[in-house]
Amino acid sequence: MKNIGRCRAHTNIALIKYWGKRNNELFLPMNSSLSLTLDAFYTDTSVTLDDTLTEDVFYLNGIKQDKTETTKINRFLNLFRETAKDNTFAKVESYNHVPTAAGLASSASAFAALAGAANSAWKLNLDKQTLSTYARQGSGSSTRSIYGGLVEWNMGEGNLSETSHAIEVDDASWDLGMIIIAINKQQKKLSSRVGMKQTVDTSPFYPVWVTEAKKDLIDIKQAINEKDFIRLGEITESNGMKMHATMLGATPPISYWEPDSVKAINKVKEIRNNGIPCYVTMDAGPNVKVLCRQSQMSDILNKLEESFTNDQLICSKVGEGIRELTDEE
Ligand code: PMV
Repeated sequence: MKNIGRCRAHTNIALIKYWGKRNNELFLPMNSSLSLTLDAFYTDTSVTLDDTLTEDVFYLNGIKQDKTETTKINRFLNLFRETAKDNTFAKVESYNHVPTAAGLASSASAFAALAGAANSAWKLNLDKQTLSTYARQGSGSSTRSIYGGLVEWNMGEGNLSETSHAIEVDDASWDLGMIIIAINKQQKKLSSRVGMKQTVDTSPFYPVWVTEAKKDLIDIKQAINEKDFIRLGEITESNGMKMHATMLGATPPISYWEPDSVKAINKVKEIRNNGIPCYVTMDAGPNVKVLCRQSQMSDILNKLEESFTNDQLICSKVGEGIRELTDEE
C-alpha cells in the first residue's frame, strides 16, 4: 500500500501571543491567542504510507533527520494512526520555503502541513477545526496555521483537547502586511517549550500576563471588526512587549533580544513618529516583525534600508490556510 498525502501550510505571527501551557502533554494554552498568517513563509510536506517500512522516516529539505527529530514526527503521526486504526509507518518529506536570511525555522507551518498531509494520506477527512486540535499537539502555534488571514486559537476548556482549536476571525484582505527584520539566523538559544515552562513556573508577573492577554484579545477583535489598523498595531505592539516583560521576570530571567533587536524597534518608532503607522512584535528569538499596511510597505522598507541590509528585510502579504498540493507542485 502506498497512500500519499501532500499539503502546504504557511507560517503565522501572533499579534496576541501564546506563552505558557496549562497542560504540557496536550499543549493546552493558558490564554487564547490571535495571529496573522503570512504568505512569504511556508512548508510543503508529503506523507507516504508504506507497509514495507518498519519505522517512520523523515527528510527535511532533502536531508534524512536523526532519531530525535524523527521521534517527534513519529509521536505526532501516532495521533493519526490511532484515529485511522492503522499502524502503517510513513515516509515524511518536508521542504521549508523560508528565505535563507530569515532564520525563521517555523514549527507553525511544519506541523500544520504535516497534519494536513497525514489527514489526506490516511483519508480521514477531518475538518479544519478538528485538524487544528491535532496540529496543536505538534506545536502550539501550528494550531493557527491551519487557517489563513487573522486567526484566533481559542484556549478551550479544562483538559478537553477538542475545545482548544483555531477559528478564522477575518480574511485580512484590508491592506495588511508584515516586514520581517532578520537579526540573527542562528537557532534560538532557549526553545519556546522550555522558555514558557520557566516563565509559568517562576515569573511573578505571569498571572498579570494572562489577565492582560485576555483583555488584549477582546480589544484586538474589536479593532479587527472596525478594520482599525492603528488600534490593531497598538495592541499588537503592547501585547508582545508584555510577553517579553513576563519572561524577564522569570528565574533565571529570559531574554531573546539582541542589540540589533533594540535598534530595529527604535527605527520602527522613528518611522512611525515621521508619519507612517507601523508596529513591532517579537517572538522567542531576536528577529523583529513589523506590522504595517501593505500599501505602505515599500515606503517603510526604504526607511528600514537606512539601518539594515536588503537581505535582512523580508516583506510578506497575508497568507492562506492549508491546502492540498497538486501533482505539479
Ligand atoms: O508553539 P511554539 O513552540 O511555536 O511557540 C510559540 C510562541 C510564540 O511564537 C512566542 C508566540 C506565538 O503565539 O506564536
